[in-house]
Amino acid sequence: MNKKNIDNKIPIYKISSKKKMIEYYDNWTINNKYNQDMINWKYVAPKNTVNLFSKFTKNKKQKILDAGCGTGLVGVELMKKGFTNTIGADFSKSMLNLVPKKLYKSLELIDLNKKLDFKNNSFDTVICVGTFTYGHVKANTLNEFIRITKKDGIICFTINEGIYFKYKFDEKIKELSNKKIWKILKFLKSSYIINKKVDSWLCIAKIL
Ligand SMILES: C[S@@+](CC[C@H](N)C(=O)[O-])C[C@H]1O[C@@H](n2cnc3c(N)ncnc32)[C@H](O)[C@@H]1O
Repeated sequence: MNKKNIDNKIPIYKISSKKKMIEYYDNWTINNKYNQDMINWKYVAPKNTVNLFSKFTKNKKQKILDAGCGTGLVGVELMKKGFTNTIGADFSKSMLNLVPKKLYKSLELIDLNKKLDFKNNSFDTVICVGTFTYGHVKANTLNEFIRITKKDGIICFTINEGIYFKYKFDEKIKELSNKKIWKILKFLKSSYIINKKVDSWLCIAKIL
């Protein structure tokens, strides 16, 4: 059981409506504050997640969706590891405006809580870091990630430890394993925002 209380660690954890969330990110990006905060807070999730992901695959040309890419921190780590065929997607224009040029093949403005405008089996990998968190994207989105990922492809994601039970990620992950829709390759507690003392679950699953 999770005994740590994460709910009050960061102001954004209190926001639940989509409109307010987008406004929050609009303000957070002024003067590059989001990126600066991530450095100050020691937000290590992008690096940790990509480091682990890269141990499970050799194909650097594979097609990757960075779901909830924000300002591109995961894209930077993917690029460092030699992955050059990644699409970024997010619902905040302000966050996407801070993405460095040429990091992604393209950028898409999408709401991850809705049906995604990608065909079945479009991607080799969907990576989603920092986006399964308070008020952001719900566990059912995993169904969409699975639909758009090829057989034997990978879904790699973090879940903020504070919402793991609250948003029923425990049940969803079990359900998908029991139905043999995916096989969990790795599931572990991982450092996430070190200076705020928040960890995440990090999951790598293979589509069956
Ligand atoms: C904490 S940031 C993480 C961004 C990036 N992955 C990183 O690790 O720096 C969460 C991102 O999720 C995006 N987001 C939240 N809810 C979303 C939704 N329903 N659809 C698409 N993006 C969403 C936000 O705009 C924000 O860019």
